[in-house]
Amino acid sequence: MPIVAPSFLASNFLRLEEECKLINESEADWFHLDVMDGRFVPNISFGPMIIEFVRKTTRKVCDVHLMIVEPEKFAEEFKKAGADQLSVHIEACPNLHRNIQQIKSLGMKAGVAINPHTPVSSLIDVLQEIDVVCMMSVNPGYGAQKFIPHTLSKIRELRKLIDNWNLPVLIEVDGGVTLENAKDIIAAGADALVAGNTVFQSKDPKATISQLKAIEVAKTL
Ligand code: DX5
Ligand code: ZN
Repeated sequence: MPIVAPSFLASNFLRLEEECKLINESEADWFHLDVMDGRFVPNISFGPMIIEFVRKTTRKVCDVHLMIVEPEKFAEEFKKAGADQLSVHIEACPNLHRNIQQIKSLGMKAGVAINPHTPVSSLIDVLQEIDVVCMMSVNPGYGAQKFIPHTLSKIRELRKLIDNWNLPVLIEVDGGVTLENAKDIIAAGADALVAGNTVFQSKDPKATISQLKAIEVAKTL
């Protein structure tokens, strides 16, 4: 069964408490929380304060995706806000190895996110150090974009690396995930699906999450 991580970027912020409740009652595994700084990406979202409120509503894993420059300045604050897992962008971190050590020393799982143009091979020297790769399947900054099909071959390549080295690293795919393409994404080797608009804009978000969860089961039948 895939890990399903609804992205709150697509939620209704006027009803954030109810949106949290809805996801808590669903089969979703992680809360995916997108932090944007208007510098690394051309958009601004929310920061640790909102995450602190969201954290209080849930026991599910808080998966925080930092799309910010100089994430080392804020890692501790996100830990305090309740992040369980913190992902930083390889493109934003000239000293990535140090960022990973910092995240782990704060007691969080460490994730590295890569943009669509960044080759999988750039992860080779950190793959043994991290818990999750957040593979961007759109250019980061906005929800509701179209899945970039080339991502599928990148997922396959990363799956091979992880399996060959027998590493416990999860592949999380983020951006443009739908009920239609989720099967191919899982078949390519993804462990976790981030879904923003597919979940929150659907008529019945809980049912949509259940459908996403059921996909791998259907595949193995
Ligand atoms: C994009 C974010 C994604 C986004 C996904 O920069 O990292 O998590 O919210 O939204 P959808 O699923 O609508 O593409
Ligand atoms: Zn994200």
